[in-house]
Amino acid sequence: MPINFNSPENRHTYFGREAQQEWFDLMQKLVEPRDKEIADIGCGGGIYSLAWLKMGAKKVTCVDFSQQMLADTVENTQGLPNIVIKQGDALCTGLPDSSQDIAFERALIHHISQENRTSCFAEAYRLLRSGGTYILQDRTLQDIQRPGSPEHIRGYLFDIYPHLQYFENQRRPDNIEVIDGLQSVGFKQVKVFSLLEKRTTYKNFLQLAADFQARKGRSILHELSDEEIAHLIRHIEKSLGAETDIVEKDFWTIWTGIK
Ligand SMILES: C[S@@+](CC[C@H](N)C(=O)[O-])C[C@H]1O[C@@H](n2cnc3c(N)ncnc32)[C@H](O)[C@@H]1O
Repeated sequence: MPINFNSPENRHTYFGREAQQEWFDLMQKLVEPRDKEIADIGCGGGIYSLAWLKMGAKKVTCVDFSQQMLADTVENTQGLPNIVIKQGDALCTGLPDSSQDIAFERALIHHISQENRTSCFAEAYRLLRSGGTYILQDRTLQDIQRPGSPEHIRGYLFDIYPHLQYFENQRRPDNIEVIDGLQSVGFKQVKVFSLLEKRTTYKNFLQLAADFQARKGRSILHELSDEEIAHLIRHIEKSLGAETDIVEKDFWTIWTGIK
């Protein structure tokens, strides 16, 4: 069953981490966020909304359809004057036409059905000012299919649960389809980038096991029962051996387009 973002037990799922240097470096190459108005759509706990503020954004509007996730954003951004929090759907945010300089969506579109993705892109186009930039960050099938390694821990999942590839196949965006979708709603200069982004460092295996058990920030783990998760953790332990300071990273694709 897919993750229910509105369930109270999923509070703090996209919370308690910080954006990493490699992410900042790439964003800084793609756009100049200083003094800009930025919409972070599907913001989760606001990890990246805060990152945009750190880069000097004038205002960040955090949009998410889940009250639970927005409660995390409120907690994460307390006392910051240039944050606006708004409940809304990525297909229909309620933000005014031509009001934003940058629209950012990280790990959102694989939660939006393929038939609705063009509407999601069109909504971003509508709320951007002329010359504004749309930045989409998500994991394609190629990104997630990289084999398991101490760096790409999520890759171990498919060693023992290959059927989950079918589930991923249904929801993961295809690079060419995204490019075509962006162009079809009017985006110009559509470009594609890759990013290897550090997710977290575990001091030891116990920390990693606890994180996987809590299914933190990995919606695919919600497809597995507690026993299956325990089996996965044993498989990862065997594969990693006695590694300490395990640095988990994820492969991402980034698409940009200009209105
Ligand atoms: C995987 S989380 C990513 C959170 C955050 N962007 C990050 O990278 O840390 C996906 C987020 O998108 C939100 N979401 C999913 N579908 C949505 C929709 N149609 N409209 C608005 N938010 C949506 C979920 O509630 C969740 O907070």
